[in-house]
Amino acid sequence: PLVHLVGAPLDCGKRRAGCLMGPDAYRTAGLARVLEDLGYEVTDHGNLHAAPVEVPDGPAHLHALGDTIGWTTTLQKAAKEAIATGFPIFLGGDHALSLGTATGVAAHAKTEGRPQFILWLDAHADFHTPATTESGNLHGTPLAYLTGQPGFDGFPPVPAPVPMANVCLLGLRSVDAAERAALQQSEVRYHDMRQIDELGIAAPLRAFLNDVAAANGALHVSLDVDFLDPAVAPAVGTTVPGGATLREAHLVMEILHDSGLMTSLDLVELNPFLDERGRTAQVMVDLAASGLGRRIFDRPTRAFT
Ligand code: ARG
Ligand code: MN
Ligand code: MN
Ligand code: MN
Repeated sequence: PLVHLVGAPLDCGKRRAGCLMGPDAYRTAGLARVLEDLGYEVTDHGNLHAAPVEVPDGPAHLHALGDTIGWTTTLQKAAKEAIATGFPIFLGGDHALSLGTATGVAAHAKTEGRPQFILWLDAHADFHTPATTESGNLHGTPLAYLTGQPGFDGFPPVPAPVPMANVCLLGLRSVDAAERAALQQSEVRYHDMRQIDELGIAAPLRAFLNDVAAANGALHVSLDVDFLDPAVAPAVGTTVPGGATLREAHLVMEILHDSGLMTSLDLVELNPFLDERGRTAQVMVDLAASGLGRRIFDRPTRAFT
């Protein structure tokens, strides 16, 4: 099997700089080597850059709108190409990356007649539209865009909007008022940390994966560093206490691998400028490894059918 590493050093989705160093931190932490040791053929496509965009006269409160539109155009195309021939891992870069990657892989799924599903592992809902965002930071908007919500003027059209019912959020603990209202009125599945505390993290994940399997869906997983508790993953600008433990995060990735359903992966929001001796980069590499088959011991594969 072929893995495509696609570097996307975008830093435009928020104001604090540093995510542009993310792709090289993953390389330094040995991502390609780890995947080769698991038996994959790995192609590193290097780092992409944003397509040039004439800066649209967007609402003034939106931060780096033109740059974000350029990256979305670039990444939508790159994702569509990469997934046609292998398993892409998109090395962020901040979460604005998913405006492009998720819509690109969904466009590919559509050509195969498969429904696209999205698993969002994040402290935040990232469900704002440009009209509702309070911060103006577009890394808080990809789920609204990829599900086809209005208000993304100047962005490329979404070739294959993902139905809300095909989206699952895990790990929530920081949700803005407008996002809460929109989520509650939608068919999106969302599981906050309270629910994970009570039920464990495997139960809601398995329920979602059963639906992906039943629909023969493609599954894009978007892993935000801040899904994890800041104690294990400090290198992110938007830390929120009370996140997933290291083992909860590995269990998610291990179950994803066992399911055989994951078709693409984003690693986002790593800010190496905030890291401590590379330990957050290493955690993210280890989680990717679990998602692609690293295991402590073999287990009977659980069928998701
Ligand atoms: N909801 C907040 C905002 O709109 C935080 C978003 C954080 N998103 C992220 N991808 N880290 O600014
Ligand atoms: Mn395919
Ligand atoms: Mn996010
Ligand atoms: Mn987040």
